[in-house]
Amino acid sequence: MIRLDKILVELGYGSRKTVKELVRKGIVSINDQTIKNSDYKVAEKDVIKVAEKIIKYNQFVYYLLNKPKGYLSATESINYPTVLELVPYRSNLFPVGRLDLDTEGLLIITNDGRFAHEIINPKHNVEKEYYFKHSGKLIPNAKEKCLEGININNEYISRPAKLEILNAEEGKIIITEGKYHEVKRIIHELGGEVTYLKRIRIKDLILKDIEIGKYRELTSEEIQSLLKK
Ligand code: URA
Repeated sequence: MIRLDKILVELGYGSRKTVKELVRKGIVSINDQTIKNSDYKVAEKDVIKVAEKIIKYNQFVYYLLNKPKGYLSATESINYPTVLELVPYRSNLFPVGRLDLDTEGLLIITNDGRFAHEIINPKHNVEKEYYFKHSGKLIPNAKEKCLEGININNEYISRPAKLEILNAEEGKIIITEGKYHEVKRIIHELGGEVTYLKRIRIKDLILKDIEIGKYRELTSEEIQSLLKK
């Protein structure tokens, strides 16, 4: 059971005070009964309507976004639009990990901190796969070097990464941590410069059939599979 005002605030109908007023005016119904008391406890099966429109509420939401360039993986910013502007409003949403401003592709956005921790924690070895284009020429043993771990500017050694060279300008790489600019810095150490980067997979979750800038909700099977150890 969850309070009606909490639900309406989380869905963006306004502050606690505004929502209370909204409910008092009689435009909210539950199972077709007008409810004027905003601390009413809503059960999972209850049908909530605001101004005759059914609203959907789950405690946790999980969006799969195909992130475009130019959007910041952050919850707020004054200089750039954030990825949160591309999904429906909920309070406390955040991106699970970060993609650079100029990186595209698969980004999960949620309000479930425990879920995010499972995905981000490097101890859990969650694979993240990227497609990239690069300028310059990669060293001949780039694949082996990636598997050994790359010394990044004497700051740290990257975890073993799997590199697939598609041709002289394109490749794919699988990493299991999410250090700052990690893919770009690995490719730099290997003699190239990334000119285009797109995340195409997290664990079993593949980016497909979703246009750039669009999102969909994850299915419960996908959520379970992402959490599976
Ligand atoms: N590695 C990068 O260099 N950039 C990203 O956005 C993600 C991984």
